[in-house]
Amino acid sequence: MDQSVFETPRGAGMTGGRDDSEAIGPQVWCDLILRRSGLAFRQTRIGDVVSAIRDQMRMLGVPTEAEFYRRLTKPGASAPEWDALIERLINHETSFFRHPPSFDALRRHILPELREVRARGGRLNLWSAGCSTGQEAYSLAMVAMADEALKGEFTVWGGDISRIAIEIARRGRYGPRAVATIPDVYRQQFLRPDGVDFEITDELRSRVRFMATNLIGGLGFSAAHDVIFCHNVLIYFSPAAVSQAVEFLASRLTLGGYLLLGPGEAPTERPHGLTQVTIAGVRAFQRRGARPLEVRA
Ligand SMILES: C[S@@+](CC[C@H](N)C(=O)[O-])C[C@H]1O[C@@H](n2cnc3c(N)ncnc32)[C@H](O)[C@@H]1O
Repeated sequence: MDQSVFETPRGAGMTGGRDDSEAIGPQVWCDLILRRSGLAFRQTRIGDVVSAIRDQMRMLGVPTEAEFYRRLTKPGASAPEWDALIERLINHETSFFRHPPSFDALRRHILPELREVRARGGRLNLWSAGCSTGQEAYSLAMVAMADEALKGEFTVWGGDISRIAIEIARRGRYGPRAVATIPDVYRQQFLRPDGVDFEITDELRSRVRFMATNLIGGLGFSAAHDVIFCHNVLIYFSPAAVSQAVEFLASRLTLGGYLLLGPGEAPTERPHGLTQVTIAGVRAFQRRGARPLEVRA
């Protein structure tokens, strides 16, 4: 790790009458957050970053920015301090079946192909990387569960940097507006009403596991994955962080496995060891295995 992050940075300026030596420049905070999470902030959001830092300092009773910087950068920096800060800066917006073409490609092409390749047995592992409050992970599980030939032989893994989002995902409880984008056939099969809300059925929930993970710094699941969905996550990252995260995801794909990114989330360079394919109009990357897919209508 870059040793410089453990040192109080120079370039502090006089801010609001505070001691010059105790203020940290906004860009230094942004760089620190970028290194931790991949998140990059436009000029217009830098004020939000500085406000988040100051609010956190107030809540924790940290007297100076330099002291807060030291706390965040000391080796093994406490997760709760980072969690609370990151939480204020991330966008959790999500929905069930948010990008329908990706789920169609999964249902119509990818699962049938992987099932065949896996005829020798073994469960399929699917990963919703940056799953927010769980809707994407449960959508993957619904598609896999409805695939009768798969016979429930799969696990969906949902990972997100936000522990709060992961807690909500684990509950599997959603309001009527949230479930409105679930196709009727899945809604009847995989949801049960509970008051005004809806709960994911136990059977489906038992196939989905959630864990706090970080796509930057290689904190993920130990399993190798046959399908990875990473949608609407990398759009908030710097180009270098996109490459880093995609390399990490690529390293977790099985031979023949697929990585599906959201529209407009391609890395500038093709991920090492992956081939770009188009499946029913959806761009995906495959770790080429025994039976490569070519462009499909
Ligand atoms: C806008 S949501 C997208 C959720 C879902 N994938 C979708 O398409 O609806 C982005 C999610 O990425 C998560 N995220 C941001 N940076 C991350 C990182 N470094 N590692 C893991 N998750 C991250 C955020 O916490 C947030 O929940």
